[in-house]
Amino acid sequence: MELSRVSPLLSRLVAAPRLLLRRRFTQNSTLFLLHNSNNKSKVTLLLKHKQSKALATKAAAAAAETRTPTNMVKAIRVYEHGGPEVLKWEDVEIGEPGEGEIRVRNKAIGLNFIDVYYRKGVYKPAKMPFTPGMEAVGEVVAVGPGLTGRTVGDIVAYAGGAMGSYAEEQILPANKVVPVPSSIDPVIAASIMLKGMTAQFLLRRCFKVEPGHTVLIQAAAGGVGSLLCQWANALGATVIGTVSTKEKAAQAKDDGCHHVILYKEEDFVVRVNEITSGNGVDVVYDSVGKDTFQVISEYSLLMIDG
Ligand SMILES: NC(=O)c1ccc[n+]([C@@H]2O[C@H](COP(=O)([O-])OP(=O)(O)OC[C@H]3O[C@@H](n4cnc5c(N)ncnc54)[C@H](OP(=O)(O)O)[C@@H]3O)[C@@H](O)[C@H]2O)c1
Repeated sequence: MELSRVSPLLSRLVAAPRLLLRRRFTQNSTLFLLHNSNNKSKVTLLLKHKQSKALATKAAAAAAETRTPTNMVKAIRVYEHGGPEVLKWEDVEIGEPGEGEIRVRNKAIGLNFIDVYYRKGVYKPAKMPFTPGMEAVGEVVAVGPGLTGRTVGDIVAYAGGAMGSYAEEQILPANKVVPVPSSIDPVIAASIMLKGMTAQFLLRRCFKVEPGHTVLIQAAAGGVGSLLCQWANALGATVIGTVSTKEKAAQAKDDGCHHVILYKEEDFVVRVNEITSGNGVDVVYDSVGKDTFQVISEYSLLMIDG
């Protein structure tokens, strides 16, 4: 086999990612990092010995064993609704990007409650089987014909557009991704795209938080909650947050909560009324649900995002 043909196969072998549990980001929102399973230095050494056809051929054969055609990638697929056991790790063919599209090799994938809702069937996917996942950061590995503005090697993030980020690679509409500056770790970027847009929508559009407002954030130490606390504080609001544990209380304080209520130890309705001298709050951001519908003043607004 010619080396010019072997090298792409080697490259794919080098790049073949495996799914690693990198970090638990919040209680239910776990972040996975895709990274190389192979020892890069070994492969570099291998590539340095380009003259050694035998070596290269051996590596190519190994690659061919694990990876078939170049358009095949690994992805999670769901054939029936249910628990985590319905997530299947399979080979899928994703094709090449068409007009206005890019092909992205994912580096980090954000997990969200919405993925669980689709898996369980609470939300209906457009088709079965489907690949869950609403946000990721990856490297552009191919661009569609005639596309400008994106080039191979760009690091991009996306959220909430096309479902299917639980995959090594994806085809995405180029106009749905944003560039990720090199100063931002892809793992961080992938974990805050969807939650960040949710926080923006809640704080700047549904109800425009201004200096002087008092806001109540239920589940203040959750993924969305922790962003709401930081942002509301930066906007000049007085931030009250509820959490279940002392550890989460410390986190919420760090995130800018002026008053943290441990709702398992204190009656949060009583506490909010004490803190606000009976005036209540201007807005409640609620990530929990019906258990918490108690503290709103006559003129306050309840945002249910949970
Ligand atoms: N992620 C997004 O972009 C997004 C967008 C729109 C809507 N939402 C919704 O917002 C809610 C929070 O999402 P998130 O990403 O912030 O989740 P998260 O990081 O897991 O936070 C959820 C928090 O809710 C509290 N909680 C109270 N009762 C709970 C229960 N029965 N099960 C699990 N948690 C419970 C927990 O805090 P304590 O232990 O302190 O009670 C937990 O930390 C979800 O309902 C989600 O569907 C999320």
